[in-house]
Amino acid sequence: MRVLVTGGAGFIGANFVHWTLAHRPEVQVTVLDALTYAADGSSLAGAAPLVQGDIADAELVDRLVADTDLVVHFAAETHNDNSLSDPSPFVRTNVMGTFTLLEACRRHGVRLHHVSTDEVYGDLELDDPARFTESTPYNPSSPYSSTKAASDLLVRAWVRSFGLTATLSNCSNNYGPYQHVEKFIPRQITNVLDGLRPRLYGDGLNVRDWIHVDDHNSAVWAIVDRGRSGETYLIGADGEESNRTVVEAILRGLGQPEDAFDLVPDRPGHDRRYAIDSSKLRTELGWTPQYGDFAAGLRATIDWYRENQAWWRPQKAATEAKYAKVGQ
Ligand code: NAD
Ligand code: DAU
Repeated sequence: MRVLVTGGAGFIGANFVHWTLAHRPEVQVTVLDALTYAADGSSLAGAAPLVQGDIADAELVDRLVADTDLVVHFAAETHNDNSLSDPSPFVRTNVMGTFTLLEACRRHGVRLHHVSTDEVYGDLELDDPARFTESTPYNPSSPYSSTKAASDLLVRAWVRSFGLTATLSNCSNNYGPYQHVEKFIPRQITNVLDGLRPRLYGDGLNVRDWIHVDDHNSAVWAIVDRGRSGETYLIGADGEESNRTVVEAILRGLGQPEDAFDLVPDRPGHDRRYAIDSSKLRTELGWTPQYGDFAAGLRATIDWYRENQAWWRPQKAATEAKYAKVGQ
């Protein structure tokens, strides 16, 4: 089976390539990635051929899709804070890029798995017992999440109108190796390693539903193997934690007092809480997460960043300079 992985030099895509090669020796992977600031070719460690290119480049995409059996589509602009300072690449890549892939898949009769986010559903109150399900109405808050919502709707329409074979997944917050230092957990770990104080937005009480990246990727394979075309599957591992609790755990894990953080100005439109009900994926497709213990997964992630400073250090100063400009 030939699989084209878009965004395979980013955080989840690179972990997907490694997971696939470890668990699916019969699969031939090719990566298509524009190598934006968010990518690092070294995350792939030569594990799969990498084509540097844009998913909105119709000619290139057509050629690659013609030569594959399945597209697993991770490529996107992904950082909410960046989408607030400049939404334009988000519209281009997330909407036009997905459209370009859909058209190529339609022309060549190739199946697509579209990787999306729980943020399309908006947010929940802290004291709300509800969690997101596949029937929660779309209500995205940020330019990032609204462009992901748009891309999901395009995929659904291509299935219904053109008979494209496609599945969708909407996952909660991932953590693990190779995540860019702009994101919450790597930013705070690398801050402490650099002698800087972690930075919590607002009151620090916002809740995210954490899942190890390998659990996300095993779920994507479960959907590729057994999912029904046109269906959406929510991916989550019951990992709700407040941002403050996570920062305290990072500080403890690195031998610092657990109150050695700063509260900084909040993200505009900041979603309060995400929580996933992944019953459909578990009961229909028989998937279960392997990393049930978030504290243990976080300790392993701290160790990874401590031991792989050469991987993240080149990005750190520029990332912090960008945050400093907006007082975060
Ligand atoms: P990332 O930012 O680490 O990586 C994105 C990758 O896409 C990069 O390698 C980048 O170079 C590539 N890319 C960007 N624009 C491109 C373009 N025009 N053409 C080709 N490649 C391009 O992102 P990530 O965190 O690995 O997220 C991957 C996917 O998973 C995204 O679709 C995201 O919406 C989704 N997702 C992420 C999370 C999370 O917690 N990180 C959770 C749920 C869903
Ligand atoms: O829910 C899935 C989404 O998770 C993905 O679709 C996105 O691509 C991914 O970036 C992530 O979005 P978030 O906005 O939740 O992640 P981020 O790492 O930016 O922030 C996580 C939480 O931590 C959020 O409540 C904001 C807060 N935060 C973030 C940073 C960078 C801080 O308090 N301080 C920080 O320095």
